[in-house]
Amino acid sequence: MTPDGKFIALDGRLYDYLVAHGHNTDPLLRELAAETRAKLGRVSGMQIAPEQGTFMTILARAIGVRSAIEIGTFAGYSSICIARALPTGGRLLCCDVSEEWTAIARRYWARAGVADRITLRLGPALETLKTLPAGDPLDLAFIDADKSNYRAYYEAVLARMRTGGLILIDNVLWNGAVIDPAVQTEDTRAIRALNDFIATDQRVEAVMLPVADGLTVCRKC
Ligand SMILES: C[S@@+](CC[C@H](N)C(=O)[O-])C[C@H]1O[C@@H](n2cnc3c(N)ncnc32)[C@H](O)[C@@H]1O
Repeated sequence: MTPDGKFIALDGRLYDYLVAHGHNTDPLLRELAAETRAKLGRVSGMQIAPEQGTFMTILARAIGVRSAIEIGTFAGYSSICIARALPTGGRLLCCDVSEEWTAIARRYWARAGVADRITLRLGPALETLKTLPAGDPLDLAFIDADKSNYRAYYEAVLARMRTGGLILIDNVLWNGAVIDPAVQTEDTRAIRALNDFIATDQRVEAVMLPVADGLTVCRKC
């Protein structure tokens, strides 16, 4: 606990308690996480955490998402969490560059019964974003791809977002590197720059949450 008592640090036991006390035990998502770990090893760490997935589903349902975009799909975990919140006729556009990784996602979309709501576009997400029709506003965007393009993704989705729509940005704490001046990698600088920018961006209401590796939630004003 900090001196003013407003946050606590998690250790492994407390984290397990937290996960056990939310609705984070979906068997299909657990199987997907296990398969990704077994097949891809360390790279599976890119997948969002279970409680983050549940949080994203609840947020998406709460705002009645009908049109969503995900930038960085990997093996499909977060996309299933978003797609499950969509009503009949709702759409999720998934952007990724990896045919290999998204092949896993395709299998699990079918098993989750959400394949009919998802369109996968393989290719650099900035190119895909340029092709989106202007008159079809987004309700929700999840940004979780290459960090050097985070600011460009933010601007591109904000321009297409309806008022009241949400932009969720992953890895905003970057394992703590955002406050370590010794870390000056391109990814770290890009995340820091976007975090600094959003902190004073009047076009959104924003909150940075200590969910997993840090999640910023922006609501378009
Ligand atoms: C952190 S992972 C996404 C994890 C995913 N959201 C999940 O929860 O399982 C990042 C993904 O971004 C993809 N990616 C990297 N550069 C990209 C680009 N320029 N355009 C689109 N996707 C890209 C990678 O192929 C990778 O699958």
